[in-house]
Amino acid sequence: MTVTFVGHGYVGLVTAAVFADFGNTVYVVGHTEEKIEKLKKGIIPIYEPGLEELVKKNVTAKRLIFTLDFKESVSKSDIVFIAVGTPPTKTGDADLSTVLQVAEQIAQNIKGYTVVATKSTVPTGTNKKVRRILEEYKPKGTEVDYASVPEFLREGSAISDTVHPDRIVIGTESKRAQDLLVKFHSPINAPLVLTNFDTAELIKYAANSFLAMKISYANSIAKLSELLGADALKVLEGIGADKRIGNMFLSPGPGYGGSCFPKDVKALISIAKDNDYSFSLLEDVENINQQAKRDIVRKARRMLGDLRGKKIGILGLAYKANTDDMRDAPAIDIINLLQNDGAKITAYDPKAVENASQIFKNVTYAKDAYSVTDDADLLIVLTEWNEFVELDFSVIKRRMKNPNVIDGRNLYPAEKLRKAGFNYIGIGR
Ligand code: UGA
Repeated sequence: MTVTFVGHGYVGLVTAAVFADFGNTVYVVGHTEEKIEKLKKGIIPIYEPGLEELVKKNVTAKRLIFTLDFKESVSKSDIVFIAVGTPPTKTGDADLSTVLQVAEQIAQNIKGYTVVATKSTVPTGTNKKVRRILEEYKPKGTEVDYASVPEFLREGSAISDTVHPDRIVIGTESKRAQDLLVKFHSPINAPLVLTNFDTAELIKYAANSFLAMKISYANSIAKLSELLGADALKVLEGIGADKRIGNMFLSPGPGYGGSCFPKDVKALISIAKDNDYSFSLLEDVENINQQAKRDIVRKARRMLGDLRGKKIGILGLAYKANTDDMRDAPAIDIINLLQNDGAKITAYDPKAVENASQIFKNVTYAKDAYSVTDDADLLIVLTEWNEFVELDFSVIKRRMKNPNVIDGRNLYPAEKLRKAGFNYIGIGR
């Protein structure tokens, strides 16, 4: 099949590369010449394991074609996916301006019968606006059907999530569009959830908000465990073994971040409000997430007292491991709060330093994980990078001024570090 993806962020680029690898001809449309020229050379703007190789392989095989031209791509395509960003507005709603603008450009360039499918996360009801635009701008004699095909890939494991998803959701009212989309996804072995537009759009927000809720629940259990002297990790292991609950997304930490959970929880609260429903459960999910970040700072104050002039080393800046993404990373709020208290911050992250340096002022970046600990009064771990797991704490103890550790991801054996003379605090233990 020939298809087009409009947008080359995580969703657009990864999905396009995977489906090109399945043997389709895939166009990826962008709007910045410089970025498209780089992509043509296989230079990708994000860090995602395996993506550069996959893009290069399929560009060389001429199955993956980057372009600025809607006409060249859309007119040849059976399916056109909208995969552009929907960043939050000031009020927490999703900003749909780019989605609606590209819908118009797509409509003007379709030829024959085309399915236009949204992959971007858009509020329930957006399909009506997109469909209106498609019908209004499509050339005479052409036919267009619309579908919502939400994406569930995670950064850091995006390729494997796309090839082995837990389900494929296809929302459309057209049998012809449904059949075409089912055929397109046929190389993937996953259950199909076939439904209408509105339901498909809501599934995406409901899934992300539910996962965010699990994390806030784990963070609340961690908080309570600290107050009761219980071990949160055992509590969560104990509940996660129940198949009805499941053990994934129950790791307490410094709060969820990234470009999806914070935005999508806010958006679902806002969608509910617009429909006269107060989704108070999700308001708590958000508040607990803010508390999780403040709690790290509270622990630092408890360990060091006055933070003025104290040297704090931060291990990990990205919102999670295996990505260079700093969007809504817990490190942002945490470092800002520590700096407001007068702490001096040195940080290290294997991939996110370039993005972080555009956000933080007065942060010193260390060349490796050990250098972060030099003369530090406190070490705080914020991202669960594998390379942090194997650090030699006897070396760290010699390099630190005071052996204080806040393990924001519960990476280390608490008792072992305490025995080695560290003042160690994890999350919920
Ligand atoms: C999330 C969803 O997991 C994807 O299914 C979805 O497609 C994507 O959003 C999206 O909407 O595009 P992502 O944001 O890439 O994916 O990353 P996650 O692995 O879900 O992690 C999100 C945040 O939750 C991270 O800050 C992570 O550290 C945190 N987290 C995750 C925890 O604190 N504890 C956990 O147990 C799991």
